Amino acid sequence: MNNLDFIFQRRSIRKYTGEAVDKKTIEQLLSAAMSAPSACAKDPWRFIVVHNKETLQKISEGLPNGKFLPDAPVGIVICGDIESAHANELSYMLQDCSAAIENLLLAVTALGLGACWLGVHPREDRVKHIKTIFKLPENIIPVGVIAIGYPAETPAPRQRGKAEYITWHD
Ligand SMILES: Cc1cc2nc3c(=O)[nH]c(=O)nc-3n(C[C@H](O)[C@H](O)[C@H](O)COP(=O)(O)O)c2cc1C
Repeated sequence: MNNLDFIFQRRSIRKYTGEAVDKKTIEQLLSAAMSAPSACAKDPWRFIVVHNKETLQKISEGLPNGKFLPDAPVGIVICGDIESAHANELSYMLQDCSAAIENLLLAVTALGLGACWLGVHPREDRVKHIKTIFKLPENIIPVGVIAIGYPAETPAPRQRGKAEYITWHD
């Protein structure tokens, strides 16, 4: 077992067993997410944890590539508070939230769970859909939704690294 296996083995998981994810585990995942780097440590990320099937169904209706969301026992909506972000800048907010999402996905893999990132931002219709469901104030911007559960599929690890993507300046 290599120390980096949990990174190389991470895959998007879109099929889940019916098993519930307990609250302690979800708290661990959120704690991992909030350990991400953040510009000037502004931590603009905000999380909505959704167990309610009807709500997961409603969310999925606005996500064309997230129809499987209600099959997951839990979904986490990651939002950013633009008023908390460094310099109130959208780019910093999105970078911070993306770092948090990746931390969460890697923690999911390390704990033997499976997850898939469902894109929301920058698609305006999807942002509006999520804002409407949760009656979010102007400053809270949905970035993505993560479907999480115990995996009912085991896609093989993929090697997507390509030497031509790298420039070495020695
Ligand atoms: C910003 C972003 C949005 C994504 N949105 C979706 C989505 O809406 N539905 C989905 O099934 N996968 C989505 N994905 C997952 C990608 O399809 C997936 O990461 C990519 O195909 C690579 O596969 P892997 O995660 O198994 O390595 C998204 C990933 C990112 C980073």
